[in-house]
Amino acid sequence: MRAMHISSEHPQIPGIVDDLANQGWSHQAIFLPEALTRALAAECRQRAEQGELAPAAVGRGQGQEVREGIRGDHILWIEPGQSEACDHYLALMDGLREALNRDFYLGLEDFECHFARYPAGTFYRKHLDRFRDDDRRTVSAIIYLNEEWAAQDGGELRIYLADGSERDIPPVGGSLVVFMSADLPHEVLMAHRERLSVTGWFRRRGNDPF
Ligand code: OGA
Ligand code: MN
Repeated sequence: MRAMHISSEHPQIPGIVDDLANQGWSHQAIFLPEALTRALAAECRQRAEQGELAPAAVGRGQGQEVREGIRGDHILWIEPGQSEACDHYLALMDGLREALNRDFYLGLEDFECHFARYPAGTFYRKHLDRFRDDDRRTVSAIIYLNEEWAAQDGGELRIYLADGSERDIPPVGGSLVVFMSADLPHEVLMAHRERLSVTGWFRRRGNDPF
């Protein structure tokens, strides 16, 4: 039964699940097929040119505000059915969601994600992805869409590990980072050229009564 599941999944999903169990985060240097990375990058760039991305806010609900001193990216939420490329990505993430639920009993209900574009000169200060007033975000997943990212382009994701060390991950096209949202402080160092990604969160059911 299990084998049938795995055959319809991305082959790196079992490794990601193991990494999360062992260290709370996973970095896959090559995760997406090149054609899909290119299609997502083209869509993100086109929607940005059409003015569809908006300055990202900090916080949730009524406490939300745009604060460029904290984060300078512009975002657009992704909806099912908006494009073939996005649907393909959502399907891959659904495979990861099912694997996480199977192996960790996390009860992850959905995956919300947005395009993010950091113009040159922007960053996102150190933070956790779980909100104080909303603890549904459980696992974070970021896919990068940048061709030929060089060391001098900056824009690394810096993660702060439990042992006090840091790790810098360059936003190389097709690579994926996954981590436990409540546990891993992280930041985006200043990008010196346009930096594109899809950032998303697997969410648990909320506590609000329905
Ligand atoms: C975020 C975030 C990291 C990245 O959007 O919450 O931390 O590498 N993004 O884009
Ligand atoms: Mn974050």
